[in-house]
Amino acid sequence: MSAEPTDSTNLTGHCYDGIEEYDNPLPQWWVWLFILPIVLSPFYYVYYHFGVEGRSIHDDYKTAVADNLRQQFAELGELKPDRDTLLKYLDDKRWLAVGESVFKTQCVSCHGTNGEGKVGPNLCDDIWKNVYQIEDVTKVVANGAAGKAMPAWGARLHPNELVLVSCYVASLRGTSPPGPVRPPEGKAIPPWKP
Ligand code: HEC
Repeated sequence: MSAEPTDSTNLTGHCYDGIEEYDNPLPQWWVWLFILPIVLSPFYYVYYHFGVEGRSIHDDYKTAVADNLRQQFAELGELKPDRDTLLKYLDDKRWLAVGESVFKTQCVSCHGTNGEGKVGPNLCDDIWKNVYQIEDVTKVVANGAAGKAMPAWGARLHPNELVLVSCYVASLRGTSPPGPVRPPEGKAIPPWKP
């Protein structure tokens, strides 16, 4: 860079190894842009993080998700985890998709992306440990099993989510997931629909 014309009145007077420093202060508006956020940040922090519920974007998100779920479930009413309901939604593609989304967020870490089994058993075969008929699926999901190695979801999922995820799990039976599967555990059970 070409040297600026020297104007000794505009120097700070600092000199380091013969290198002098121009006195070019930052514009006032820039300085305020720097200072204002620092001054405002404690108020922001207190308002959004110690304030009442519902102010942070996380709260907004939770409310939006809950609203959405309520809207979706409005037409279902509250599903009962009984045999007839489970068999009915077992064949309902549209609502199975809701069960699938619960499965993909909560269950794949232990049961594998396609139910092939990882820490938890394979859910695609006819061999089951804690399940004999379709209602048992919801019981295991709601109450857990094996001293909570299979966690209880009863308090963590909406009752309709419990039913729909159970239907989705039941629908995995008889599918052939790609890749390695966990070997069967338990005993062969009769088909869901006798
Ligand atoms: C932390 C790991 C873990 C997570 C997460 C998990 N499971 Fe399990 N699950 C297990 C284990 C382990 C078992 C086997 C329990 C046993 O040995 O009796 C099991 C068993 C089951 C069974 C019974 C299988 C059988 O053969 O009897 C079902 C059904 C099931 N899980 C569904 C689900 C669903 C649905 C979800 C998600 C909402 C889920 N699991 C999340 C670990 C998990």
